Amino acid sequence: MGHKGFSVAVLVCSVSFFLLTLHSAYGDVSYSFPEEMKRGSVIGNIAKDLGLEASRLSARKARIDTEGNRKRYCDINLTSGDLIVTERIDREELCGEKVSCLLSFELVLENPLELHRISLQIQDVNDNSPIFPKDTIKLDIRESADKGARYRVNAAHDADIGQNAVQSYVLQRNNHFVLSVQTTSAGSKYGELVLDKELDREKQQELQLLITAVDGGTPQRSGTVVIHVTVLDANDNAPVFSQAVYKASLPETSPLGTLVVTVSSTDADEGVNGEVMYEFSRMSDKARKMFTLDQKTGDITVIGELDYEEESKYEMFVEGKDGYGLSSDTKVIIDITDINDNAPVIYLKSLTNPIPENASPGTEVGIINVQDRDSENNRQVRCSIQQNVPFKLVPSIKNYYSLVTTGELDRELVSDYNITIIATDEGSPPLSSSKSVQLSVADVNDNPPVFEEQSYSAHVTENNKPGSSVCSVTARDPDWRQNGTVIYSLLPGELNGVPMSSFLSVNGDTGVIHAVRSFDYEQFMRFKVHVMARDNGSPPLSSNVTVSVFITDVNDNSPQILYPAPEGNSFMTELVPKAAHGGSLVSKVIAVDADSGQNAWLSYHIVKSTDPGLFTIGLHSGEIRTQRDISESDSMKQNLIVSVKDNGQPSLSATCAMYLVISDNLAEVPELKDISYDESNSKLTSYLIIALVSVSTFFLTFIIVILAVRFCHHKKPRLLFDGAVAIPSAYLPPNYAEVDGAGTLRGTYNYDAYLTTGSRTSDFKFVSSYNDHTLPADQTLRKIPTDFAEEHDDSDGSAEVGLSCK
Ligand SMILES: *[C@@H]1O[C@H](CO)[C@@H](O)[C@H](O)[C@H]1NC(C)=O
Ligand SMILES: *[C@@H]1O[C@H](CO)[C@@H](O)[C@H](O)[C@H]1NC(C)=O
Ligand SMILES: *[C@@H]1O[C@H](CO)[C@@H](O)[C@H](O)[C@H]1NC(C)=O
Ligand SMILES: *[C@@H]1O[C@H](CO)[C@@H](O)[C@H](O)[C@H]1NC(C)=O
Repeated sequence: MGHKGFSVAVLVCSVSFFLLTLHSAYGDVSYSFPEEMKRGSVIGNIAKDLGLEASRLSARKARIDTEGNRKRYCDINLTSGDLIVTERIDREELCGEKVSCLLSFELVLENPLELHRISLQIQDVNDNSPIFPKDTIKLDIRESADKGARYRVNAAHDADIGQNAVQSYVLQRNNHFVLSVQTTSAGSKYGELVLDKELDREKQQELQLLITAVDGGTPQRSGTVVIHVTVLDANDNAPVFSQAVYKASLPETSPLGTLVVTVSSTDADEGVNGEVMYEFSRMSDKARKMFTLDQKTGDITVIGELDYEEESKYEMFVEGKDGYGLSSDTKVIIDITDINDNAPVIYLKSLTNPIPENASPGTEVGIINVQDRDSENNRQVRCSIQQNVPFKLVPSIKNYYSLVTTGELDRELVSDYNITIIATDEGSPPLSSSKSVQLSVADVNDNPPVFEEQSYSAHVTENNKPGSSVCSVTARDPDWRQNGTVIYSLLPGELNGVPMSSFLSVNGDTGVIHAVRSFDYEQFMRFKVHVMARDNGSPPLSSNVTVSVFITDVNDNSPQILYPAPEGNSFMTELVPKAAHGGSLVSKVIAVDADSGQNAWLSYHIVKSTDPGLFTIGLHSGEIRTQRDISESDSMKQNLIVSVKDNGQPSLSATCAMYLVISDNLAEVPELKDISYDESNSKLTSYLIIALVSVSTFFLTFIIVILAVRFCHHKKPRLLFDGAVAIPSAYLPPNYAEVDGAGTLRGTYNYDAYLTTGSRTSDFKFVSSYNDHTLPADQTLRKIPTDFAEEHDDSDGSAEVGLSCK
């Protein structure tokens, strides 16, 4: 106290900073400072002394560690790097009589793990006064004692050490005694009263002496004892101990009542003068709680719980005193031996939790410190962790271990680890303890969504409702939360120049794909779309899948008759030579159907004819042949009504009329306007015609007007027909030839087109392009079968489309 100008000495300062050890740099630093410094006092700047950057201390989790859970007494200021006092440091409490009082700590830094030993040398301050074991000492002295007789006074004790301990004794002036100060072999001083002038019991029976013990500190402290001298008649000998020092050793686990040692002394006197009483003269408070001394027998026994880890050595003085107060003392040293009674303790000093799953093998995730309070072999500890976890313990500095990963982690496989660390010491029997550490693995977006199928296909019937669902795709992503949340979208694409998004849409959350519009098989039979699944991580991961959409045909197109031309602006007439034999090809009805397969498989029937037995039509070829030889009696004008049906369910049909003239000579052909269908036996046809006429009155009227103008004032057209039907192949619809698989009709209707007579062909005029009249420019020919069936509830149940050519 009040001790100014203490010195702080950095004794050794890190010799290994330039050693490029990966894990640790070892540096020792030592400070020396007085006890009883105020809390918050700066001991020294440890960052500077160890050559560390003060600014990095915080990031490196710098901290002061002690063994076990002992007090730390000091701490480090992470801002400045100062080592400051945090607890009262009382040298006497910490170190007792030890000459050197050393506290050692460790400065631990992480990233990388670094350990520095810090030694604090606590200097003594003269804060304790010398104290005599007793306030009063009773001394009985025979009056016959000779001048120069010596009487030992037990030494005063000062908790301080060195110069601050007892230095001298002063005896108050008196008539009989002087003081002689002696020094023991151990260096402590005690006083002896020396008789300087003989006593005379008859003059003075009692006298009081005052002895003052003084220490050497500044300021000086002192303590006193009163010696009460009784002058006696008799004379005797002081007791003599059998040993100058008694030594004993006992294990820390010794039970209460264990006899430690017996001190004994002999006194040459007899009777009361030879009866020796024993008592402790000087001992520490700790020792007083542990041992007791039998006054008569000198047995020292255990009365407290010994603990090697608390105190390994006790020293005490025993005074032997005879009946007349003559005494001498002896020293007793009791060594406590270590027993393996402390299991190792595992401290988790640092833990990175959770660990990202992409941590590379060898990543340090934690620091473990193992301590065992026992000594020597009993404190040698081995540490291990259980098998089958991708972690291991790497011994680091001293009893520190790093917990490092040994392999790749995958949160999708194992997301939590329960690591059990087991520490075993080498005592016998060994003690062990375990600690369990919970470690979680944090997610990293390392899995792209994966579609459940390699590819998807969807089948849609044409003329579907817009908005109907087509199919659904599913992708899975095992990552966590948003890293595993899948969002679906269509990849941009085009179909015939139209963006894909106007055909299909996908629900981003469910993956259900909807049709945006109604599909037309005749426009496209199939198409592909790419759907992407993307997770919500950052950056996101994605994958894509192909969805093939197949459109199924519906019989929504009725047969289209190409020949005879459906156009009403020409009456086409076939010439049949009179000499034609049975089976001769006379003409051919040519029709196509935009649908496919059965829906386009056409069959031809003659539904009405002037002479039912004369002509026959090929069921699938449409070829009109004579059934028998032509005879003179046959009517020259022959009309046929041919119906063309497809094979759909329900089927659609079209009809047309064909005019045949049996003649060898064109001149015999009557005027075309006279050719009219003999309706006497065909009510059906007339109804049909009437119906058609009424449906498109205006249109037909218009045509009739044109026809009338044309055929009344012009020469009648003649058609030469040489047996082959001339149809340009270009009249076939473009997608007709694309029908593969279902292409039963392919090639069957490939005809070469040629016209026979140059001058008369103006009327033999086909539609210039199939597409112009059919699909997709306008779809006037389309009829929805159900609608049609309602309008024409025919007896045979087959729907007919009112298409006829005149
Ligand atoms: C640490 O040191 C800084 C700078 O010297 C100071 O401002 C701060 O108060 C100190 N912190 C503590 C807890 O002593
Ligand atoms: C981890 O292990 C310890 C010790 O084996 C056990 O007590 C604890 O319940 C375990 N925890 C989990 C989450 O498995
Ligand atoms: C997703 O992954 C990223 C790294 O890819 C990670 O930083 C983030 O924490 C993860 N999110 C969740 C919710 O785990
Ligand atoms: C779709 O996935 C394939 C391979 O799976 C990849 O090559 C292609 O780049 C992806 N396309 C898009 C647009 O992401």
